[in-house]
Amino acid sequence: MNDFNKKVAVITGGASGVGRSIAFTLGRLGAKVVIADVDKNALEQTCDALNAENIEAIAQYCDVSSAQSCEDLSQKALSTYGALHLVFANAGVSAAEAGNMWEYSERDWQWTFNVNVWGVVNTINAFMPKLLEQNIEAHFAITGSRNGSLLIFPNIPIYTASKAAIHSITENLYHQIAAMDTPVKVHCLIPGPHVVETGLLNSERVRPAELKIENPRAQTAAKSIDEMKRNAVAKGVDLQTTHPDEVAAMVVKAIKEDQFWILETTPDTEERIINRAQDIIDQRPPRSLIVK
Ligand SMILES: NC(=O)c1ccc[n+]([C@@H]2O[C@H](COP(=O)([O-])OP(=O)(O)OC[C@H]3O[C@@H](n4cnc5c(N)ncnc54)[C@H](O)[C@@H]3O)[C@@H](O)[C@H]2O)c1
Repeated sequence: MNDFNKKVAVITGGASGVGRSIAFTLGRLGAKVVIADVDKNALEQTCDALNAENIEAIAQYCDVSSAQSCEDLSQKALSTYGALHLVFANAGVSAAEAGNMWEYSERDWQWTFNVNVWGVVNTINAFMPKLLEQNIEAHFAITGSRNGSLLIFPNIPIYTASKAAIHSITENLYHQIAAMDTPVKVHCLIPGPHVVETGLLNSERVRPAELKIENPRAQTAAKSIDEMKRNAVAKGVDLQTTHPDEVAAMVVKAIKEDQFWILETTPDTEERIINRAQDIIDQRPPRSLIVK
């Protein structure tokens, strides 16, 4: 797809971070944008800001962990704009994991899997039949993570497990769609190449009351990128970050070039991927992800 003008883009988690940047970037290229999110205030503010730039946009409350909410979103987008060209299953959360996994609350697992895994399944189920029925060029992108999709970082196991799960869903979806005679394309979006400056570390702001953790944790995780940077400096580490607009630019480029991977790697990441593959082949236990 070379021309985004008048194309219809639906973005879950569109009120913040990566999703918000995708909305602005595609909107500035002439797309009509449907942003969907559970954060009603951020949704309204983002939609107002899009409209203030003369971007045609609507906001729809959507909780991706609900199949009905995703179905409502797909119907709203279709009834408003008449077609669907770009769908981003992007909403995701991180449950401020810190410490040993057996000390986490069961609710951490439930919430993360409800949003990160069921959210993707629900979005596929709500949108894919409509995209196939249209029989026009359309792109469906699932937001994974370096952590889980490509590598298994040891410190946030729930998030990593959820992203590993949706990565296998993404590759399966790719194969199933590629085997069909359809102009629909599937993409795997891995934001980066560094930690992206978004609200992800403060996902607790949209955590449902019934899934809040009962007891405070023994250890706490950074709640913002700034805090993460300060922690890194204290350890003598130079933490590099990526702006979400850079991720949105990657999205446009990859869709134009019809690339499955929406991904930018660093030499460190490449070395870690090769090491991991070699350790599996050599049947060695996983080595530390710290690259010297
Ligand atoms: N920030 C990073 O470094 C990074 C790296 C790799 C992958 N990702 C992934 O990128 C995606 C976007 O996250 P982000 O980093 O922009 O964070 P973000 O917190 O800025 O944006 C995520 C959005 O998802 C929304 N959301 C949360 N639960 C939802 C639900 N149940 N239904 C609908 N919307 C919901 C939030 O309200 C928020 O607006 C996520 O899937 C995340 O896992 C982020």
